[in-house]
Amino acid sequence: MGRLRLSRGVIVAVAMTGLAASPSMSEDVAAMPPFQPHVDMKTFMEHVLSPAAAIIWSTNGTIIDEKGEHDLSPKTDDDWEKIVSGAATLAEATNALMIPQRALDAQWNDYVNKLAAAADKAYRAAEAHDLKSISEVSDQLDSICAACHRHYGLE
Ligand code: HEC
Repeated sequence: MGRLRLSRGVIVAVAMTGLAASPSMSEDVAAMPPFQPHVDMKTFMEHVLSPAAAIIWSTNGTIIDEKGEHDLSPKTDDDWEKIVSGAATLAEATNALMIPQRALDAQWNDYVNKLAAAADKAYRAAEAHDLKSISEVSDQLDSICAACHRHYGLE
Protein backbone atom coordinates (compact mmCIF):
# COMPACT_ATOMS: atom_id res chain seq x y z
CA MET A 1 0.00 0.00 0.00
CA GLY A 2 2.70 2.46 1.04
CA ARG A 3 4.70 1.74 -2.09
CA LEU A 4 1.64 2.17 -4.27
CA ARG A 5 0.89 5.59 -2.82
CA LEU A 6 4.49 6.68 -3.18
CA SER A 7 4.64 5.69 -6.83
CA ARG A 8 1.33 7.47 -7.50
CA GLY A 9 2.74 10.61 -5.91
CA VAL A 10 5.71 10.45 -8.22
CA ILE A 11 3.50 10.04 -11.26
CA VAL A 12 1.37 13.02 -10.23
CA ALA A 13 4.47 15.16 -9.64
CA VAL A 14 5.83 14.31 -13.09
CA ALA A 15 2.47 14.97 -14.74
CA MET A 16 2.14 18.36 -13.03
CA THR A 17 5.61 19.40 -14.10
CA GLY A 18 4.71 18.48 -17.65
CA LEU A 19 1.54 20.55 -17.52
CA ALA A 20 3.18 23.56 -15.90
CA ALA A 21 5.84 23.54 -18.60
CA SER A 22 3.23 23.70 -21.35
CA PRO A 23 2.99 27.31 -22.58
CA SER A 24 -0.68 26.95 -23.53
CA MET A 25 -1.82 26.22 -19.99
CA SER A 26 -1.89 28.62 -17.05
CA GLU A 27 -0.42 27.48 -13.74
CA ASP A 28 -3.86 27.63 -12.10
CA VAL A 29 -5.28 25.09 -14.52
CA ALA A 30 -2.23 22.87 -14.11
CA ALA A 31 -2.65 22.84 -10.32
CA MET A 32 -6.33 21.86 -10.44
CA PRO A 33 -7.14 18.28 -11.49
CA PRO A 34 -10.29 18.32 -13.63
CA PHE A 35 -12.16 15.85 -11.39
CA GLN A 36 -15.64 16.76 -10.24
CA PRO A 37 -18.21 14.82 -8.25
CA HIS A 38 -21.42 14.54 -10.29
CA VAL A 39 -23.68 13.04 -7.63
CA ASP A 40 -23.85 13.24 -3.83
CA MET A 41 -22.41 10.47 -1.68
CA LYS A 42 -25.76 8.84 -0.95
CA THR A 43 -26.51 8.58 -4.68
CA PHE A 44 -22.99 7.36 -5.39
CA MET A 45 -23.39 4.57 -2.81
CA GLU A 46 -26.89 3.60 -3.92
CA HIS A 47 -26.50 3.86 -7.67
CA VAL A 48 -22.82 3.34 -8.44
CA LEU A 49 -21.14 1.23 -5.74
CA SER A 50 -24.04 -0.94 -4.59
CA PRO A 51 -25.15 -2.18 -8.04
CA ALA A 52 -21.55 -3.03 -8.98
CA ALA A 53 -20.98 -4.82 -5.66
CA ALA A 54 -24.32 -6.66 -6.02
CA ILE A 55 -23.09 -8.21 -9.27
CA ILE A 56 -20.05 -9.58 -7.46
CA TRP A 57 -22.18 -10.79 -4.54
CA SER A 58 -24.47 -12.58 -6.99
CA THR A 59 -21.65 -15.02 -7.76
CA ASN A 60 -22.20 -16.63 -4.34
CA GLY A 61 -25.97 -16.49 -4.52
CA THR A 62 -28.65 -19.11 -4.60
CA ILE A 63 -32.38 -18.72 -5.04
CA ILE A 64 -34.97 -21.17 -3.85
CA ASP A 65 -38.31 -21.54 -5.64
CA GLU A 66 -40.95 -24.24 -6.00
CA LYS A 67 -38.57 -26.27 -8.17
CA GLY A 68 -35.84 -26.24 -5.55
CA GLU A 69 -32.55 -24.48 -5.02
CA HIS A 70 -30.75 -22.80 -7.95
CA ASP A 71 -27.15 -21.79 -7.91
CA LEU A 72 -26.64 -18.28 -9.35
CA SER A 73 -22.90 -18.60 -9.89
CA PRO A 74 -21.69 -17.67 -13.39
CA LYS A 75 -21.57 -20.55 -15.88
CA THR A 76 -21.74 -19.26 -19.43
CA ASP A 77 -19.41 -16.73 -21.08
CA ASP A 78 -22.30 -14.24 -20.96
CA ASP A 79 -22.64 -14.75 -17.19
CA TRP A 80 -18.93 -14.08 -16.78
CA GLU A 81 -19.09 -10.96 -18.97
CA LYS A 82 -21.61 -9.49 -16.52
CA ILE A 83 -19.25 -10.19 -13.62
CA VAL A 84 -16.41 -8.56 -15.56
CA SER A 85 -18.60 -5.45 -16.01
CA GLY A 86 -19.48 -5.31 -12.31
CA ALA A 87 -15.88 -5.74 -11.19
CA ALA A 88 -14.53 -3.23 -13.73
CA THR A 89 -17.18 -0.70 -12.68
CA LEU A 90 -16.44 -1.23 -8.99
CA ALA A 91 -12.70 -0.88 -9.56
CA GLU A 92 -13.00 2.30 -11.61
CA ALA A 93 -15.57 3.71 -9.17
CA THR A 94 -12.92 3.65 -6.46
CA ASN A 95 -11.07 6.38 -8.37
CA ALA A 96 -14.22 8.49 -8.32
CA LEU A 97 -14.46 7.88 -4.56
CA MET A 98 -10.96 9.36 -4.20
CA ILE A 99 -11.87 12.68 -5.78
CA PRO A 100 -10.47 15.01 -3.10
CA GLN A 101 -13.82 16.75 -2.43
CA ARG A 102 -15.28 13.37 -1.41
CA ALA A 103 -12.73 12.51 1.28
CA LEU A 104 -14.19 12.97 4.77
CA ASP A 105 -10.81 12.79 6.54
CA ALA A 106 -7.21 11.59 6.21
CA GLN A 107 -8.19 7.91 6.51
CA TRP A 108 -10.66 8.03 3.63
CA ASN A 109 -8.28 6.81 0.92
CA ASP A 110 -7.07 3.91 3.10
CA TYR A 111 -10.60 2.53 3.13
CA VAL A 112 -11.05 3.19 -0.57
CA ASN A 113 -7.72 1.47 -1.33
CA LYS A 114 -8.92 -1.71 0.40
CA LEU A 115 -11.98 -1.67 -1.78
CA ALA A 116 -9.86 -1.02 -4.87
CA ALA A 117 -7.63 -4.02 -4.10
CA ALA A 118 -10.67 -6.29 -3.72
CA ALA A 119 -12.22 -4.95 -6.94
CA ASP A 120 -8.96 -5.55 -8.81
CA LYS A 121 -8.90 -9.12 -7.56
CA ALA A 122 -12.52 -9.58 -8.60
CA TYR A 123 -11.79 -8.18 -12.04
CA ARG A 124 -8.83 -10.51 -12.60
CA ALA A 125 -10.86 -13.48 -11.32
CA ALA A 126 -13.77 -12.62 -13.63
CA GLU A 127 -11.49 -12.30 -16.64
CA ALA A 128 -10.00 -15.71 -15.78
CA HIS A 129 -13.46 -17.25 -15.09
CA ASP A 130 -12.05 -18.21 -11.69
CA LEU A 131 -15.06 -18.98 -9.51
CA LYS A 132 -13.05 -19.79 -6.39
CA SER A 133 -11.28 -16.39 -6.34
CA ILE A 134 -14.39 -14.38 -7.15
CA SER A 135 -16.23 -16.19 -4.34
CA GLU A 136 -13.47 -15.23 -1.93
CA VAL A 137 -13.74 -11.56 -2.91
CA SER A 138 -17.50 -11.78 -2.67
CA ASP A 139 -17.12 -13.04 0.92
CA GLN A 140 -14.63 -10.28 1.85
CA LEU A 141 -16.42 -7.38 0.18
CA ASP A 142 -19.09 -6.89 2.81
CA SER A 143 -16.59 -6.34 5.61
CA ILE A 144 -14.61 -3.88 3.46
CA CYS A 145 -17.75 -1.77 2.89
CA ALA A 146 -18.72 -2.13 6.55
CA ALA A 147 -15.28 -1.07 7.87
CA CYS A 148 -15.60 2.31 6.17
CA HIS A 149 -19.22 2.73 7.23
CA ARG A 150 -18.28 1.92 10.84
CA HIS A 151 -15.39 4.39 10.79
CA TYR A 152 -17.80 7.16 9.80
CA GLY A 153 -20.44 6.06 12.28
CA LEU A 154 -22.83 4.74 9.62
CA GLU A 155 -23.47 1.24 11.01
C1 HEC B 1 -14.47 5.11 1.81
C2 HEC B 1 -15.65 4.88 2.60
C3 HEC B 1 -16.75 4.02 2.09
C4 HEC B 1 -16.65 2.79 1.50
C5 HEC B 1 -15.39 1.97 1.20
C6 HEC B 1 -18.02 2.36 1.22
N1 HEC B 1 -18.91 3.31 1.63
FE1 HEC B 1 -20.91 3.17 1.48
N2 HEC B 1 -21.10 4.96 2.46
C7 HEC B 1 -20.06 5.79 2.79
C8 HEC B 1 -20.60 7.04 3.31
C9 HEC B 1 -19.79 8.24 3.78
C10 HEC B 1 -22.00 6.90 3.29
C11 HEC B 1 -23.05 7.94 3.75
C12 HEC B 1 -23.58 8.67 2.52
C13 HEC B 1 -24.59 9.72 2.90
O1 HEC B 1 -25.73 9.37 3.23
O2 HEC B 1 -24.22 10.90 2.84
C14 HEC B 1 -22.27 5.57 2.77
C15 HEC B 1 -23.55 5.05 2.61
C16 HEC B 1 -23.84 3.87 1.96
C17 HEC B 1 -25.17 3.37 1.71
C18 HEC B 1 -26.46 4.03 2.18
C19 HEC B 1 -26.94 5.01 1.15
C20 HEC B 1 -28.25 5.59 1.58
O3 HEC B 1 -29.25 5.29 0.94
O4 HEC B 1 -28.27 6.32 2.57
C21 HEC B 1 -25.05 2.20 1.00
C22 HEC B 1 -26.17 1.31 0.49
C23 HEC B 1 -23.64 1.97 0.82
N3 HEC B 1 -22.93 2.99 1.42
C24 HEC B 1 -23.13 0.89 0.14
C25 HEC B 1 -21.76 0.60 0.08
C26 HEC B 1 -21.22 -0.62 -0.49
C27 HEC B 1 -22.04 -1.73 -1.09
C28 HEC B 1 -19.88 -0.55 -0.33
C29 HEC B 1 -18.82 -1.55 -0.71
C30 HEC B 1 -18.88 -2.14 -2.01
C31 HEC B 1 -19.59 0.73 0.32
N4 HEC B 1 -20.76 1.39 0.55
C32 HEC B 1 -18.32 1.16 0.62
C33 HEC B 1 -18.72 5.51 2.69
C34 HEC B 1 -18.18 4.34 2.17
